[in-house]
Amino acid sequence: MADFNEESNKPSPVKVMGRILNFIFTTNSAIWFEKDITKEVVDYQAKIPVEVDITSTNKTIEWLRSLNQSWMVNPREIAAALDNNHCWASVHINGKIIGCIKIGFRNVYIGDYNKVIEFPERMGFIYEIYVLPEQRGNGVAKYLTTQAIKFLKSKGYTKVGNHVPPWNKASIRICEKIGFKQVCYIRYFRIFGVSIRIVSKNKRFSILKGGKIQREEIPYE
Ligand SMILES: CC(C)(COP(=O)(O)OP(=O)(O)OC[C@H]1O[C@@H](n2cnc3c(N)ncnc32)[C@H](O)[C@@H]1OP(=O)(O)O)[C@@H](O)C(=O)NCCC(=O)NCCS
Repeated sequence: MADFNEESNKPSPVKVMGRILNFIFTTNSAIWFEKDITKEVVDYQAKIPVEVDITSTNKTIEWLRSLNQSWMVNPREIAAALDNNHCWASVHINGKIIGCIKIGFRNVYIGDYNKVIEFPERMGFIYEIYVLPEQRGNGVAKYLTTQAIKFLKSKGYTKVGNHVPPWNKASIRICEKIGFKQVCYIRYFRIFGVSIRIVSKNKRFSILKGGKIQREEIPYE
């Protein structure tokens, strides 16, 4: 749907070109984190008076759609979320949504790989946090993350994971502050439809700089 120009009902040339280039070559990388949630969880409060609504998935989807940012409402991601009863919790100020967190379990669509990945039983996975730009820096994402962990813990989950691109310093800071441990760093390539994943324990690892290549089990598959 998003690939078509509504007026002419023909694919937009720019998007067609983007798709071709994306098929020929695409790459991304992420640091994968995990946290054992069987122990006590530190409770962060935001600097502003917010409330979380854990069971608001449909409302959150509608809100994300209203933001007109296609990367936040991928149809395959939404389908996997609804099929597996994921919780897309929203955070409010005076009843107005200012952010959300996508909490998944079992099968989660991972945008980096354009596929659904099966996670171990009793492991939750946080695959997106979003806070409106004007509300950032108030501890809302840390509050949302700890609320998500408490929710997963109350449902009997023992572990939670997430993955963050290395350039996203705010998200890395949040993970470290909340006590997530780095599990590995994965550089992903797709060349003419063939996927290659290189897994390293060292987040500064780079094959282009001649770093040591470690081929290990890819997590959660
Ligand atoms: C990432 C995001 C959710 C953070 O939300 P937030 O409510 O501002 O986060 P918090 O206020 O709870 O915490 C942010 C932390 O990162 C730190 N930080 C922010 N920008 C930073 C930067 N460029 N470098 C290092 N640290 C940074 C803040 O100082 C704060 O750390 P502190 O608690 O030690 O002060 C928000 O920026 C966002 O929605 N970004 C766009 C979507 C996105 O990137 N989502 C994550 C996908 S992995």
